Amino acid sequence: MTTTDRDAIAILGGTGDQGLGLALRFAKAGRRVVIGSRKADRAVAAAEEVRQAVPDAEVSGHENSEAAVQAPIVILSVPFEHTAGTVKSIKEVLAEDQILVSMAVPLATAVGDGAARTVGIWQGSAAELVQSLVPAGVHVISAFQNVSAHRLRDLGEPVECDVVVSGKKAPRARIMELCQLIPGLRGVDGGPLANARIVEEMTALLIGMNMRYKLPEGLGIRFTGLPE
Ligand SMILES: NC(=O)c1ccc[n+]([C@@H]2O[C@H](COP(=O)([O-])OP(=O)(O)OC[C@H]3O[C@@H](n4cnc5c(N)ncnc54)[C@H](OP(=O)(O)O)[C@@H]3O)[C@@H](O)[C@H]2O)c1
Repeated sequence: MTTTDRDAIAILGGTGDQGLGLALRFAKAGRRVVIGSRKADRAVAAAEEVRQAVPDAEVSGHENSEAAVQAPIVILSVPFEHTAGTVKSIKEVLAEDQILVSMAVPLATAVGDGAARTVGIWQGSAAELVQSLVPAGVHVISAFQNVSAHRLRDLGEPVECDVVVSGKKAPRARIMELCQLIPGLRGVDGGPLANARIVEEMTALLIGMNMRYKLPEGLGIRFTGLPE
């Protein structure tokens, strides 16, 4: 990584719903975005899609491992059931002090069950599973699980959601700052990584509520009473 890359954000699986939404928003905020995919040509096409929506975007597309080396912050945006495999495929290229953001939710769809419930993870949460797989010195942070992809991709509107950010203190603060780049998002201090267990479960609750209230664009969450 060069010093000019210090502000870059890599998004692995940035070709999908949530990753592309984050790519659009971070590009719009003026950050360099590096989209990763298992296939470089898909990542290049996703980067072009971002450029169409945000003409001055600084964005490029690469195979996942090539994307992961280009940014100090790497966001994992693949379905839960492919998270461990994706981490294993890139872990050799991760460097000390790099931040790996986990937003996977262990929805029961991974085992053929419904989307409004989760499955148990031996390590406690998807984020802790990711932490168990990365080399020492790589900081895993849990964030963005409760943010709707639909709302991220609607660049004309603010997202209106709190993002509970969990993990070690210094990298946690950096990801909380990152949330402020997206209009309507607010990063809130979610303490240690083990709290990802609670945050990931909340997404299943939100998905069920989206169904009951017939809100395909997705609910957001807000905490009240926090200091400004
Ligand atoms: N969608 C939401 O509203 C939402 C909200 C909150 C959190 N999340 C979380 O965000 C993450 C991404 O969700 P999503 O809805 O964006 O998922 P998605 O669109 O279904 O998939 C994202 C990307 O994952 C990659 N992928 C698919 N199969 C794979 C495999 N077998 N191995 C490795 N990579 C594979 C694909 O990228 P390539 O084919 O280009 O490699 C795909 O574009 C999930 O962990 C989800 O829990 C989603």
